[in-house]
Amino acid sequence: MSNKFCPFSVVLVVCAVIEVECCPTHISIWPNGKTSFEATIQVRWDQNCDPKPNWIKFFEKDPAISNLFPKSAIEIHNDSSTDVVIDQRIGKLLFPGGWNRNDQLSLHSTKPKTYPRGRCLDYYVASFRDSDLLSVNCLKIQPNWMRLTEHIADIPLKSLFIPGTHASGCYYNITKKGSWKMEKFYHTQNYDVWTQLVFGVRFLDLSLGYFLSNTAKYSISTVYEDTLVNPIINILVDVRNFVRLSGEVVLLDFRDFLSGSRDNVQYYHVLISLLEIELGEFTFRRNTSSTHNQLYDFSLNDVIKAGKNILLMGSLEKLKEFDVETDLIWPSWKSFSTGNLNDSEILDQMRLIFSGRSNSPTYNEGFIFHFNRGQEAFPQFVDKVSTTRERAISINYKIKDWLSGPWSLQANVVTADFIMSTNLIELALTTNRYKAYRFANEFVSFPVS
Ligand SMILES: *[C@@H]1O[C@H](CO)[C@@H](O)[C@H](O)[C@H]1NC(C)=O
Ligand SMILES: *[C@@H]1O[C@H](CO)[C@@H](O)[C@H](O)[C@H]1NC(C)=O
Ligand SMILES: *[C@@H]1O[C@H](CO)[C@@H](O)[C@H](O)[C@H]1NC(C)=O
Ligand SMILES: *[C@@H]1O[C@H](CO)[C@@H](O)[C@H](O)[C@H]1NC(C)=O
Repeated sequence: MSNKFCPFSVVLVVCAVIEVECCPTHISIWPNGKTSFEATIQVRWDQNCDPKPNWIKFFEKDPAISNLFPKSAIEIHNDSSTDVVIDQRIGKLLFPGGWNRNDQLSLHSTKPKTYPRGRCLDYYVASFRDSDLLSVNCLKIQPNWMRLTEHIADIPLKSLFIPGTHASGCYYNITKKGSWKMEKFYHTQNYDVWTQLVFGVRFLDLSLGYFLSNTAKYSISTVYEDTLVNPIINILVDVRNFVRLSGEVVLLDFRDFLSGSRDNVQYYHVLISLLEIELGEFTFRRNTSSTHNQLYDFSLNDVIKAGKNILLMGSLEKLKEFDVETDLIWPSWKSFSTGNLNDSEILDQMRLIFSGRSNSPTYNEGFIFHFNRGQEAFPQFVDKVSTTRERAISINYKIKDWLSGPWSLQANVVTADFIMSTNLIELALTTNRYKAYRFANEFVSFPVS
């Protein structure tokens, strides 16, 4: 499959030159329904597409190489429409051999294939104007983008667009189904951390909580609104297995070290020793005698050449308060959340942060921008509590428009709830390819003196 994305205008020029199609459809997993299993497929296209699609067809195999009838076909009667939800459950995702969460547990596991430009799963969408095919797109995994996109490894982390998840550890566990209440109010992701990473996510936001347990390993869990969701150990093991398999680099942010039993000294010691045991071998460590080093000034190459793959951030002040010494954790980057803001406030904040101007609070620094909608900012009836899915829907479909254009070039880490219902991963990868292209060409064209 060729890459047919052209999500922001800066690349339009490139599009014209290499003649890729500039009216792509975007396919995402929509967090409708009450549970992860009820998620369906949403297809979006650009408002100024010309000609506009009037049929969207869904296939379970690549329509370009098979003559299958579509699984469903939807006629678009309204030329102002820019999206359609296909009544087609995603079901259980199946990745190519080696990339499923438990594939490497088998005795005869082999190293999976690598995919420099991603790999389609068996969910394809084609758009038509009458009988003319406009575009074909698919749901893609991106397990190798960092290592296999040329030149991005030379760019400092603060200048890359790194796709992340918000409340990454509050996901639905397919083998240990939670209560309906958990699904409605405390899950912020449909997919576990392994699946997020295979899809291309490289930043994890982990708020933690501590509770007394017989085994220290299980005493720390991820937290959403003071409710414990998944044991952190499952996530650490997934991250370790993924970086070992792929060689990719993953950032973990423990900014909100914990909630609940907040200032429990023991907690910090348990956490740090857990991180040391599970991730220590792969973690890029901080030089504790040098106070000026900032993680965001390093490049992927700095990390990879040191033989490492994992970057950990958190509040060093908090650790100091409890006399915890560790070189595993770097200072967190500045972080912003849209949780309590209405749409016009969000745009004001983005104007400030994504301007790239020298008076921006993030000028020349790494930063994290969390797209999410808190309970308070969600318009609702007095006695109805909104679900995490309803709130994600109310903001996620706007991210594409907000981050299109020049703002995507200033983005650093950007996260969302229910990440697969946004185009963040695609947008980040396209932006990084463009940056790498520019970086390489500016570099090449330096006069030799
Ligand atoms: C077409 O869609 C637009 C935008 O969603 C809407 O405002 C308009 O009323 C629709 N027109 C018809 C005829 O349904
Ligand atoms: C889901 O729960 C089971 C049983 O507790 C556990 O073995 C498994 O690792 C969990 N999966 C994830 C992705 O957390
Ligand atoms: C750590 O930083 C100090 C002070 O800048 C420097 O002298 C030392 O060489 C550094 N150590 C390593 C291992 O880079
Ligand atoms: C958003 O919030 C600001 C300040 O709190 C307020 O002045 C403005 O009217 C709100 N906008 C909307 C559309 O609700």
